[in-house]
Amino acid sequence: MIDSPRLETPNPAIRVQNLNFQWPGGARVLKSCSLAVPEGEFWMLLGTNGSGKSTLLRLLAGLLESQSGDIDIRGRVGFVFQNPDHQLVMPTVGADVAFGLVEDRLPQPEIRQRVEDALAAVKLLELQRRPIYALSGGQKQRIAIAGALARHCQVLLFDEPTALLDPDSQRDLVSQVRQLVKNRGITALWVTHRLDELDYSDGAFLLENGRVVAAGNPEPLKRRLMRRV
Ligand SMILES: Nc1ncnc2c1ncn2[C@@H]1O[C@H](COP(=O)(O)OP(=O)(O)O)[C@@H](O)[C@H]1O
Ligand SMILES: [Mg+2]
Repeated sequence: MIDSPRLETPNPAIRVQNLNFQWPGGARVLKSCSLAVPEGEFWMLLGTNGSGKSTLLRLLAGLLESQSGDIDIRGRVGFVFQNPDHQLVMPTVGADVAFGLVEDRLPQPEIRQRVEDALAAVKLLELQRRPIYALSGGQKQRIAIAGALARHCQVLLFDEPTALLDPDSQRDLVSQVRQLVKNRGITALWVTHRLDELDYSDGAFLLENGRVVAAGNPEPLKRRLMRRV
């Protein structure tokens, strides 16, 4: 069954209520948009191009400010973009994962420990000294995720992280991220237009005309969207 937007969700780590957003001089993108993601669950967000998915994620990450409505997020937020080249800023893997920790002025031994732990979590510990340019697209995405893990983010937002990957790397990434967030009790919201990825989710939202028009079990949502193509 597809529920209406689940404001009644117990224990949400992400909660959005009646959010309104309009770009300056542009269209109203979000119109009283509401959703909730339960703590520790992996939810996906779907919607046609231009429906406002990236805008919503940027609002959740605090990169944009809404005109009205409420956003409640429990814990530190990490963001993984579609193109990792827009996100990885340091010349080597180890330096990049350490970047946020250096900014936070953590002591060196703790930085080393966290970087190793995060790289081990994404199964790339052996690449610690590798230059970023020598990585594949899927490896770069896992480095971006390691950066968020090292900062101990409890909420992860993914904006079409598989859009630039081939089908094998796409499946590897989504299955690995599912396992990772489950192991660590992280709450994740993953934007995608690839319906096969829904199989890895705990639930999904459909964004249409500025609001969430369906939320809940991914199976019926997948069937409904497959009928459209
Ligand atoms: N920086 C911007 N300035 C003005 N309008 C924007 C900007 N970014 C996106 N938009 C507009 O906001 C709407 C939603 O865009 P977006 O959130 O990127 O959608 P999606 O990620 O679902 O494809 C679109 O109409 C888009 O043209
Ligand atoms: Mg987008």
